[in-house]
Amino acid sequence: MDQTLNDVLNALPMPALAIDGAERIKAANAAARTLIGQGIEGRNFVTMLRQPQLIQSIEAVLRDSTPRMSEYLSNDGVQDTTFQVSVRVVPDLNVVLLCFLDITQVQQAGQMRRDFVANVSHELRTPLTALMGFIETLRGAARDDAAARDRFLDIMEGEAGRMNRLVGDLLSLSRVEDEERVRPREKVLIDDILLSVIRTLTPLAKEMEITLKEDFGDAPAELVGDGDQLMQVFTNLIENAIKYGRKGGTVEIRIGKPERDPALRAMGVRIHVADDGPGIGEKHLPRLTERFYRADNHRSRALGGTGLGLAIVKHIINRHRGRLRVESELGKGSVFTVVLPTGAG
Ligand SMILES: Nc1ncnc2c1ncn2[C@@H]1O[C@H](COP(=O)(O)OP(=O)(O)OP(=O)(O)O)[C@@H](O)[C@H]1O
Ligand SMILES: [Mg+2]
Repeated sequence: MDQTLNDVLNALPMPALAIDGAERIKAANAAARTLIGQGIEGRNFVTMLRQPQLIQSIEAVLRDSTPRMSEYLSNDGVQDTTFQVSVRVVPDLNVVLLCFLDITQVQQAGQMRRDFVANVSHELRTPLTALMGFIETLRGAARDDAAARDRFLDIMEGEAGRMNRLVGDLLSLSRVEDEERVRPREKVLIDDILLSVIRTLTPLAKEMEITLKEDFGDAPAELVGDGDQLMQVFTNLIENAIKYGRKGGTVEIRIGKPERDPALRAMGVRIHVADDGPGIGEKHLPRLTERFYRADNHRSRALGGTGLGLAIVKHIINRHRGRLRVESELGKGSVFTVVLPTGAG
């Protein structure tokens, strides 16, 4: 009988152990020993498990044989893990069986979803509150003041535009995430993509008094990719360089020579977007591609940014099996480098 119990425990793909009527741990599989401690067999479960919620559940099951769910938290010195523990009687074997299901990732995904919804709501509420305020003012105090009315309508147009951009970016992000596992198939020329992005952004650069410089080398970089999405990547990077760059400064767009890339372990091409603006503090760098993360909150909002641009960029680059690298020094400027596999080699 004991062998059957051991065989069953060893066959379970999770930490599992059995407790007998004498409140002792009768058997445990290797994963349970790793989780709770070596040599736990034969010991009293209360001294080994030590978490009141779980202990109470086990005691209750021992008392009335009704199955229960409980929780167990562990920390291996590096990270916390949360287990959902099922506690049930196995009548034939005369034991209470505990199975530990690791639900850490499920919990984290839930937390991320809640954070995301909270962020979206907050981002939408700000312009919405402004719109509602101005509608109120236009109905009341500014009713007969034509000059004020025009000014307010301008602001309202700006706020509505911000909401529109936000919704557009959210849709774009969810589309990009959906497609992330589908390999792109078009043949595209990076030079053409960049030229077309630069053309679109030239008016913005003029407005911000920034010179766009391009250095495309001589070997045209052809690769398999999604043209529209790559346009989106470079539009965001170059737009950022212009928006957050230095008035009167320069934004340089460089294409490297296609070569074997150590980061990809394959042939790849590097595209650099460099500005000579204020740069980004080191502590922000690892978080830049998070949704809604802004290094310079005030400036980004003032410029109408949604904080979703680099999140979209990251997903598109992942889909292309590429890499994004950011180097920046305060006061000197930033360089965003995209590495894309060219398929060969
Ligand atoms: N070249 C840059 N120089 C300095 N800061 C930058 C640069 N590029 C990005 N950032 C910082 O990174 C943040 C995130 O950029 P991201 O493109 O994701 O959002 P955004 O530009 O604020 O909004 P969106 O692109 O959605 O309009 C920006 O808010 C800005 O603070
Ligand atoms: Mg941006």
